[in-house]
Amino acid sequence: MHIIPKPQQMEILEGVFTLSDQTVFVVDPESTEIGADLLHQLCTATGYHFLIAAFPPEEGDDSIELDMDESLTGLGAEGYRLVVQPHHVLLQAAHPAGMFYATRTLLQLLPADILREAPVPGIRWEIPCVEIEDQPRFGWRGMMLDCCRHFMPKEFVKKFINLLAFYKFNRFHWHLTEDQGWRIEIKQYPKLTEIGAFRKETIIGKTWQSDRPQFDGVPHGGYYTQDDVREIVAYAAARFITVVPEIEMPGHSQAAIAAYPELGNTGKQLPVFCQWGVNPNVFNAEDSTIAFLQNVLDEVLALFPSEFIHIGGDECPKVQWRESAAAQQKIRELGLADEDELQSWFIRQMDSFLVNRGRRLLGWDEILEGGLAPNATVMAWRGEKGGIDAAKSGHDVVMAPNHYVYFDYYQTEEQSDAEIRIGGYLPIDRVYGYEPIPAGLTPEQAAHVLGAQGQIWTEYMPGPKDVEWMAFPRVAALAEVLWLDPAKKEYADFSERLAQTLARLDVLDVKYYRP
Ligand code: ACM
Repeated sequence: MHIIPKPQQMEILEGVFTLSDQTVFVVDPESTEIGADLLHQLCTATGYHFLIAAFPPEEGDDSIELDMDESLTGLGAEGYRLVVQPHHVLLQAAHPAGMFYATRTLLQLLPADILREAPVPGIRWEIPCVEIEDQPRFGWRGMMLDCCRHFMPKEFVKKFINLLAFYKFNRFHWHLTEDQGWRIEIKQYPKLTEIGAFRKETIIGKTWQSDRPQFDGVPHGGYYTQDDVREIVAYAAARFITVVPEIEMPGHSQAAIAAYPELGNTGKQLPVFCQWGVNPNVFNAEDSTIAFLQNVLDEVLALFPSEFIHIGGDECPKVQWRESAAAQQKIRELGLADEDELQSWFIRQMDSFLVNRGRRLLGWDEILEGGLAPNATVMAWRGEKGGIDAAKSGHDVVMAPNHYVYFDYYQTEEQSDAEIRIGGYLPIDRVYGYEPIPAGLTPEQAAHVLGAQGQIWTEYMPGPKDVEWMAFPRVAALAEVLWLDPAKKEYADFSERLAQTLARLDVLDVKYYRP
């Protein structure tokens, strides 16, 4: 039984259920869509034409039954029961997400070829008999993908989301704006994508850290239309994944300033940034810029139903604000102590804007500097400290500490010139060993930790295959960290299951790293 993430409770029983042309599908009306999706997958790979029976099942059939019932208490919003007997498979949940996860587990009990997009002849489609009762430890099980440093095609974003759903993640944090590219169409401000989505060229290797930066001379760009965004959000929702958009401010904003120079501090016409690293060209703090960004957010809110909206907030150098007469004037007008407080004021404008529209602000842990906005939730990335501080002050937290969940870090201890990565070293056993609740929190403070997520920054991942190589199988390890109770985690056991399940990634055409 090679299920990842490992179910909380699983008993292995005698015997197998065998799929055949005679298998009857019994789907209660609440589970129609999830049932249709499962049926489609099973039919596609097996080539069988299953019978669909009216609910409830007939005696004597070999049946697969989906039974969603809100009175199945104790399973939680995302939990499920899966009982496989020689003539009957029963999937039960109180809510749709749980039913969906029951189907993901069922697919993992079948041979890997069940994930194929065309019939595979000559396979005995056996499901081992088991009794599983399962629900996740954390409510926020996320992965972030940076589609700005390198643009990722829409079809790959969907593939990535599908893979996350397979491992029972429920948040896709979509990093959409950056110095190097603005990737989401905003109808009120077309130049954000007409100009901001394309750069002239890209820095080569680590030459940005040297005196002699070298560029490839190859234009790079792309963006998602609002129709693309709606398509991706719906695709994710069908897989019980909420897409959390990130619109960066006040730093990491050079592409937007290239499109609309009045958003910057110097008035100069800047290019879309072609290098990596932290960049001094940041938004100014004028009321007109706040209004511009709130207009952007209005369009973002219409596209993304997510309660949480990420506004970035990280790595905003203050040099231009220090040198800008307008920024200094603003600091005096508002009675602020310094530039950190000006950033805090900036973020608070977004916090109240979002709260007034029934949403919640999420930002990287730098939003703690200069005072945390009253309703903000913190995403802790510079180690765990920001998360600890925020939880202690009663704010919710999503843990994303670089040393454990930055999947742009090297997977190999030896680092060769053939494979350039941003830095760091993060082998899969270290990911597996990560405990999202930081030590030293009281139970009340720990309850503010919503969960955790992994990060894929794509400076050194020009295309989908590079992302797959860096994400998998570390994503599988994180999936188990987020799902399984810590007392049940065991690396040797995970590692053995992982070896068995890599065949599924082969079937899904994922170019993963082999630890
Ligand atoms: C970050 O890695 N700058 C959030």
